[in-house]
This record gives sequence, C-alpha cells and structure tokens, in this order.
Amino acid sequence: MSATIITVTSGKGGVGKTTTTAAFGAALALQGHRVCVVDFDMGLRNLDLVMGVEKRVVYDFLHVAHGTANLSQALVRDKRVPNLQLLATSQTTDKEALTPEAIDHVMNLLAPAFDYILCDSPAGIEHGAMMALHHADHAIVVCNPEVTSVRDADRIMGYIAARSRRAQSGLTPVREHLVVTRYNEERVKRGEMLSLPAIQDILAMPLLGVVPESPTVLRASNAGRPVSLETGTEVGRAYRAAAMRFLAEIRHSPAMAGRVAQPAGFLSTLAETAQRGLLRCLFRHA
Ligand SMILES: Nc1ncnc2c1ncn2[C@@H]1O[C@H](COP(=O)(O)OP(=O)(O)OP(=O)(O)O)[C@@H](O)[C@H]1O
Ligand SMILES: [Mg+2]
Repeated sequence: MSATIITVTSGKGGVGKTTTTAAFGAALALQGHRVCVVDFDMGLRNLDLVMGVEKRVVYDFLHVAHGTANLSQALVRDKRVPNLQLLATSQTTDKEALTPEAIDHVMNLLAPAFDYILCDSPAGIEHGAMMALHHADHAIVVCNPEVTSVRDADRIMGYIAARSRRAQSGLTPVREHLVVTRYNEERVKRGEMLSLPAIQDILAMPLLGVVPESPTVLRASNAGRPVSLETGTEVGRAYRAAAMRFLAEIRHSPAMAGRVAQPAGFLSTLAETAQRGLLRCLFRHA
C-alpha cells in the first residue's frame, strides 16, 4: 500500500495553510490513519511549532534526502496522537536545495509507511510551492473570504492543473478540495468579506469545510496543539468535520490511478502555466 499525498496550498500567504495541515493531519490520525505531515516551507520552519514538537526536531527533510539521516531518525512522533508524525523542513535559505530528485527520494521512503502524507506548502507560486504540489493526489486549497485570497487560490488551481505529476503523467487529475478559513459571518453580513456562495461560485471546487475566525487558533498554536485536538471549540469541530468529509468523499468515489515513479528534472520541461478563465475575467489578472 502506498500513501495518499495531500498538498495544502493557497497561493496567498498567511491564510492558514500550516494551521490546516496540523489540524487536518491530526484529525485524520484521530480516525486511526497513519499520517505524516511534511513541512515544505524551507527556511521558515513553523509546522513543528504549531505541532508543539520543535524541541524534538534533530534531523530534517534534507538530511533524509541526502542520506545523512534515515527516516526513523528524522520523523518526530506526536505524543498525543501516536500515529501522527512530522518531517520538519530544513532551515537553509537556499530554496533550490529542494530538488525534484530529493523530493522523489523522500516521498518514496515515506509512502509505504503511511496512509496519508500531508505537504504544507509555502506561500506563493515559486519553486517551493511547485515542489510541494508536484506529488499531490489531492490538493486542499485554503482560502480566506477576501478577493485577493480567492484570486490566488484560483491561480494555484491553474498551477496544479499544469504542473502536478498527475497532470504530466496523464493520470487522473489531482482532486481539489476547498477549505475556507477565518470566516466571519458578521463581517460577511456587513459586506466586508466575501460570502461562502460567492467564493464557491468563483472557485467551483467541492467544499470540505468552513473554519470560523477564532482566537482559539492562535491560542492552540502558541500552545503547540493542532487545533483539531481542541474539543468543545467551533474551530476544532470544523477541522474534524472537514477530515470526516474528506474520508467520506474518497470512500465513495473511484480509486485514483496508481502512482508512478517521477522522472528527474520535470520542472524544466513544463509549460509555463494553465490559467483558469473565470477569475481572469473577474479580476483581469495576468
Ligand atoms: N481560523 C482562524 N482564526 C483566527 N486566526 C487564524 C485562523 N487560521 C489561521 N489563523 C492565524 O493566521 C496566521 C497565519 O496562519 P498560518 O501560519 O497557518 O498561515 P499560512 O498560510 O501557513 O502562512 P504562510 O503562507 O506564511 O506559511 C496565524 O497567526 C494563525 O494563528
Ligand atoms: Mg505556513
């Protein structure tokens, strides 16, 4: 059995990708699945902080990729949910150190050991974000109810369609799922934020969950707890429900075509991007 790879992405920065990776990963693990969360945000490591395991990180992604540590030395197991583990990112500032070959190697090591691998993407559409989405079977597109965030989410969908391994290998496309975070009903009513139907109209992607804006998130991340472990909170419930919806969706839909080994050097062979039409019309972005 090989793991299903889920990339958590957004385009825009600061929308809640890392929060979602930790929360969604913990929620899947609570359901008994073997989950590895992998930080792809090189140089800006913070998934380990949100998970509360930063003091136990000794080796990281690049150590495993370069063979200076083996996987079992680098993985950090969560003490609250034992089938949840983290592979930290490197603190190097050389973003290009994350090569396609390095990722292939690490993913091939991880895949037999887990049911789900969640990749926490860096912001933007540069090298690191492309690397994080390359292996995706599923993409969780995180978006805030703001025009800029929705536009960037739409743009990243174009990149997923063009640059993922699935797209290049002619496999069934990456399945996209929308998570709207920092949703504030009152501000939507006042017209200060986009409503959920407006976001869905634009992004036309199955909705996995809506996570309210809440101080619980900051409190949980300061305490190093994935917010889905916060029982009795709206945010915790929202992430747990999103994970259940995801599991139900994949149970009730046909299996995706199998994974194939990734040839090296894929980035250089790619077409630039596939922009989607609707938002281009709406926002006139390039
Ligand atoms: N539902 C929420 N309610 C309130 N604050 C939130 C919520 N979700 C995320 N935040 C806060 O938003 C900030 C950014 O979150 P996070 O680090 O998860 O975003 P990110 O998309 O990973 O950012 P980056 O692009 O920099 O990697 C954090 O301070 C986090 O606590
Ligand atoms: Mg982040």
